[in-house]
Amino acid sequence: MQRAVSSYPFAPSVKVKLLNAGFHSAADLCDLRPLQLSKEAGISQEEAVEVLQAVRCEPGQERAAASQLTALELLEREQELGSIVTFCSALDTALGGGLPVGKTTEVCGAPGVGKTQLCIQLAVDAQIPVCFGGLGGKSLYIDTEGSFLVQRAVDIAQAAVEHCGLLAEDAEQQESLKEFTVETVLSNLFLVRCHDYVELLAETYLLADFLAHHPEIRLVVIDSIAFPFRHDFDDLSQRTRLLNGLAQQLIQMATNHNVAVILTNQMTTKVWNGHSKLVPALGESWGHAATQRLILHWEGTNRLASLYKSPSQTEATVRYQITAQGFRDVPHSNQPKASVDPTVSQSGSMSKRPRMEEV
Ligand SMILES: Nc1ncnc2c1ncn2[C@@H]1O[C@H](COP(=O)(O)OP(=O)(O)O)[C@@H](O)[C@H]1O
Ligand SMILES: [Mg+2]
Repeated sequence: MQRAVSSYPFAPSVKVKLLNAGFHSAADLCDLRPLQLSKEAGISQEEAVEVLQAVRCEPGQERAAASQLTALELLEREQELGSIVTFCSALDTALGGGLPVGKTTEVCGAPGVGKTQLCIQLAVDAQIPVCFGGLGGKSLYIDTEGSFLVQRAVDIAQAAVEHCGLLAEDAEQQESLKEFTVETVLSNLFLVRCHDYVELLAETYLLADFLAHHPEIRLVVIDSIAFPFRHDFDDLSQRTRLLNGLAQQLIQMATNHNVAVILTNQMTTKVWNGHSKLVPALGESWGHAATQRLILHWEGTNRLASLYKSPSQTEATVRYQITAQGFRDVPHSNQPKASVDPTVSQSGSMSKRPRMEEV
């Protein structure tokens, strides 16, 4: 935290204002909130968020401590962290047991394909008691689109509670069901509504403190990352810088606080050589942001999930369905399919046509 402010790649005008206001090293900045820094240094709130992101992303003592781990210790730690089941066993298998804790996963797909349903399902499933093989955690849901419907969360929680009720065999499981009710599931699901990218960046900045005070949280959802970053951005290089900073923060948060991070993204049309293709939005460099990428897509009336760029699993495509109870397997037809390309041409079968964007 002794790094000099002048050595950061901030705009020269921002550096001058920081130095003039008496901020000389990262240590002078690390305890500040964006609004406070904006006022004290006379910079915009966006610039303040960017400065604090860069300072917070500095590899500090935690990085040094992590580098002293052996590979075996790292393996054991990853296995201990576990994963969150999706209630679609075909997808869980493709993911290597569910959504991995300690890692970031991006879920992309056209409107209506089921991204929000999957996120709500995971926010409930992260709370499944340990004696049922769950993590017994809590969830934080950051909603940037206003698409979180509490009644849907009630329905999905009700189904999960009933499911565990049917599985309960021993006394410990019966006992744990007293604490695993729809009411407790909803009260352990923290909701945050962000209306624009500044609110989202500020919220992410505060997350580390929130997670430190709520160590039971095992899942952080951002639904969606795309919505606030696809509006009001004339300067795409500023967007890329902010997104890179955000991605780094989320990876650090997943590792330091043992949470699974799930980010949803929209699809956009990329045109070249006269062909059009649907690709995840936010540009190519954002494609490296999350540890793994899941694309939800349609094939006719079937819903498919394709896993990409996972560091530990082979690429796979599986079927899923959305029922009144939530995200589920398709009965008798849940074998992985190998060759379905979700980036279909515009004449393909996506339910709604995503808007054009420079990617
Ligand atoms: N109670 C329900 N029963 C069955 N299907 C549902 C229910 N609620 C939502 N769905 C399905 O989920 C779809 C919406 O998925 P959603 O996750 O909101 O999409 P998005 O990918 O845009 O986030 C609806 O079109 C519908 O097919
Ligand atoms: Mg949605």
